[in-house]
Amino acid sequence: MSDPLRLGIAGLGTVGTGVVKIIQRHADLITARGGRPVVITAVSARDHTKNRDVDLSGYAWESDPVALAKRADVDIFVEVIGGSEGPARAATEAAIAAGKDVVTANKALLALHGQALAEAAEAKGAVIRFEAAVAGGIPVIKALTEGLAGNQIKRVMGVMNGTCNYILTRMESAGLPYEQVFEEARQLGYLEADPTLDVGGIDAGHKLSLLAAIAFGTKVSFDAVELEGIQKISIDDIRHAADMGFRIKLLGVAQMTGRGLEQRMSPCLVPSDSPLGQLPGGTNMVVLEGDSVGQVVLRGAGAGSGPTASAVMGDVIDLARGTRLSTFGRPAASLAAPVAAKANAPAPHYLRMTLQDKPGALAKIATVLGECGISIDRMRQYGHEDTSAPVLIVTHKTTRDAVDLALAGFTATGVMAGETVAIRIEQV
Ligand code: HSE
Repeated sequence: MSDPLRLGIAGLGTVGTGVVKIIQRHADLITARGGRPVVITAVSARDHTKNRDVDLSGYAWESDPVALAKRADVDIFVEVIGGSEGPARAATEAAIAAGKDVVTANKALLALHGQALAEAAEAKGAVIRFEAAVAGGIPVIKALTEGLAGNQIKRVMGVMNGTCNYILTRMESAGLPYEQVFEEARQLGYLEADPTLDVGGIDAGHKLSLLAAIAFGTKVSFDAVELEGIQKISIDDIRHAADMGFRIKLLGVAQMTGRGLEQRMSPCLVPSDSPLGQLPGGTNMVVLEGDSVGQVVLRGAGAGSGPTASAVMGDVIDLARGTRLSTFGRPAASLAAPVAAKANAPAPHYLRMTLQDKPGALAKIATVLGECGISIDRMRQYGHEDTSAPVLIVTHKTTRDAVDLALAGFTATGVMAGETVAIRIEQV
């Protein structure tokens, strides 16, 4: 039997304690699968006295994660502190400088510093693994890096923030406004300490940028992700989208087009009967499209102690087996600087507007659309008792620039009785 693989775990929150529990519960299974025992030698967290409902008595305690990262009796530094800067970054850099492998759940750290960390790790012969950073327990990094390595990836899509998916599905099922469901999510403890990370699309955008780097062989470029959160989604949008056969999801899409790399994380409409449209509550789903394989759909828990610790352990056991892959699936020096697409691929759009109910109002709107080169696919006007008429239009494929031009044109007609909402419809 080979020597044990020795872990130092920095961070004893939901994920860190989940990792400890799996190692304590499945020691024999892990040894059998990894070919050597996996043991914890030391742990680190801010508060030594806190009751974490797990036995830590057999492990050395370090109050400073940097000191933990440098310990001679640690082979793998497991970073589950979180945050792109501060102790997580300092300790990860220290571990790499000491030539240690790193397993991390930290999407923000890699989205902002992934290229530099990958280069530093390769220079030291160390490996960084981050399955737990994207879509929790779903093994999507492994699928892209290994299982689909023979494909040219066409498109990566996904719902990668369970909190947003919970909010949007709950708004629809309970007929409640955003603010009320946001408050519910806060009380249930679903929201990050800074909720903007969730509802502003930042957390999901970090994840998308990591998938795009692997899929398209480009340096991680979170700054180039077009981000829009769910804060402005109204219950009216959700109801009316449902009426037209769609659900609203905070959807990430990355694709390489003739115009460059498109990366966007934004509310989109998807058909209600598609796998993405059917995705309930806090679940995540990632859709991968390769030239040979076609479409692969992965669905599972995107957060939580067990699922995220499961992903950490997948990486740890791979290292125990001796699997040593480049961080983003190819040497860091060979990753290309991405050229960001200046405009997104054309797509159908959903327009929700309120018109003054007077002769010729709808004709004016149709004229503006025609002048902007936008063709109407379907439209619906709802019954109403006052002097303003709610109207929904689904367009054929068009560009966002054309939609923006049309929105300005609508205002100039003088027949609008409120703001128009325009949401992209993603063909999935
Ligand atoms: N806050 C995230 C979510 C999990 O709701 O999916 C951590 O990335």
